[in-house]
Amino acid sequence: MTAPEGAALAGRVALITGASSGIGAAAARVFARQGAVVVLTARREDKLRDLADELRAEGAEASHRTLDVRDTEEVRRTVEFAVERYGRLDAAFNNAGVALPRTPMHLIDDADYERVTETNVRGVWNCLRHEITAMLETGGGSIVNTSSVGGLVASSTAAPYIASKHAVIGLTKAAAVEYAPHRIRVNAIAPGLTRSEMIDDWFAKSPENEARAYRSAPQARAADPAEVAEAAAWLCSDRASFVTGATLTVDGGRTAW
Ligand SMILES: NC(=O)c1ccc[n+]([C@@H]2O[C@H](COP(=O)([O-])OP(=O)(O)OC[C@H]3O[C@@H](n4cnc5c(N)ncnc54)[C@H](OP(=O)(O)O)[C@@H]3O)[C@@H](O)[C@H]2O)c1
Repeated sequence: MTAPEGAALAGRVALITGASSGIGAAAARVFARQGAVVVLTARREDKLRDLADELRAEGAEASHRTLDVRDTEEVRRTVEFAVERYGRLDAAFNNAGVALPRTPMHLIDDADYERVTETNVRGVWNCLRHEITAMLETGGGSIVNTSSVGGLVASSTAAPYIASKHAVIGLTKAAAVEYAPHRIRVNAIAPGLTRSEMIDDWFAKSPENEARAYRSAPQARAADPAEVAEAAAWLCSDRASFVTGATLTVDGGRTAW
């Protein structure tokens, strides 16, 4: 894989969380195609290894590390790994996340609430802090956090997820404001329904889930993960140099209704 002339992320060192499937795996391919050196992270090592091998076979520079984003020490070591191996961290796509089976709020276990908030909120918190520390050393960078349309509007029977994705936007704005003077941009993407393991599981439970989901978006389909990854890549690149603190919807018009 040779990046085209003037590729948006040429030579940029980018860390991607949740790279073992779905949007994160698509981002690994999109970022690498745009010239980035990619460090792929998630918990499932086999998937990461296969993807890193695939990217290297195509000529990209890629490595992988297992990472549970809930563990701040693991995140610190992963960021250090990227800096030690490649000299700097220019970009980060904090994309790891989990959802719950749809359940009325009063019936959700506290343990499930914890799992969602620990992954989706503390995970982004952990990543932001260690990535920003590294970027301060080298004079700047760009970070993109994955929120959701559920970070902007509510739907029923997903309360912990909705709350967690609103919090991601809050963390994004807080970090953007605080680190703009240090040339670190921080943005969020808010994907709508996107084909991934998360969504395939949900559709598999009931075809009606799929039909209902399509009825709620003007484009009446789910995104391909690459369509979402393209937005993250643009925000990570200098092409978005005056964009910070923003939440970019990538939702087929879902929140325009
Ligand atoms: N698909 C959608 O419709 C949609 C819509 C809006 C927002 N999103 C958001 O998009 C992001 C990516 O989701 P996806 O749709 O691509 O689903 P996915 O295929 O299930 O991907 C989730 C990724 O997060 C990783 N992950 C989960 N818990 C983790 C942890 N504790 N530590 C490290 N990695 C962890 C998973 O890898 P391991 O299991 O290997 O750790 C996997 O790579 C999530 O933040 C999700 O909330 C998705």
